[in-house]
Amino acid sequence: MRLFLDTANLEHIRHGARLGVISGVTTNPSLVSKEGKVNYKKLVQEICSIVPGPVSTEVISQDTAGMLAEAREIAKWAKNVVVKIPAGLEGTEATAALAGEGIKVNYTLCFSVNQAILAARAGAAYVSPFVGRLDDIGEDGMLLIQDLIQVYREYPEIKTEAIAASIRHPQHCLAAARAGAHIATVPYAVLLQMAKHPLTDTGISRFAADWQKVMGDVKNI
Ligand code: E4P
Repeated sequence: MRLFLDTANLEHIRHGARLGVISGVTTNPSLVSKEGKVNYKKLVQEICSIVPGPVSTEVISQDTAGMLAEAREIAKWAKNVVVKIPAGLEGTEATAALAGEGIKVNYTLCFSVNQAILAARAGAAYVSPFVGRLDDIGEDGMLLIQDLIQVYREYPEIKTEAIAASIRHPQHCLAAARAGAHIATVPYAVLLQMAKHPLTDTGISRFAADWQKVMGDVKNI
């Protein structure tokens, strides 16, 4: 499973890129708004220059014509930009048209396997099932990832990749990997948590203390 960072924060994206584990970025209108009143195009272009992999950014329009106009413009911003189009009838029609023009679409706000089937048949490059938001309303978000992956596997001609989205904690990430999600897009805080383990911290401290006792301040270099 590949890892994307789910943020529009440049500092966090730069850190993720330095860690060498992030191969793409996803944003959405809420995440962009968190960064203040920015120049949207400039921000997306900056993100695209930091991360060589796909950078998803979303349209605001809610009708097919508006989505198409926005998406065609966004697609010109950078080579690695991917346009996020919301699931639904308008979004499905827009996805099919954009895919026909060779524009990569991330079919977002996906909450059912049926929507994921539409994403695949419309030619979306990615589909984003939102795990956390399903958990929030008392459903089992991870079940959607499991079902969707199972269904996609039945039809090898489907090339759409599933991005486990709305990830809230490292357990979501682990479960998505076990279910076979192609990608998980993780908030920065979750990325930091993934690296952490108390036994790693105590292990480092203990090694340092044992070394210090015998070797003092002698270092390897
Ligand atoms: C995915 O691409 C979305 O940006 C994101 O995962 C939404 O997550 P949230 O439900 O935490 O807002």
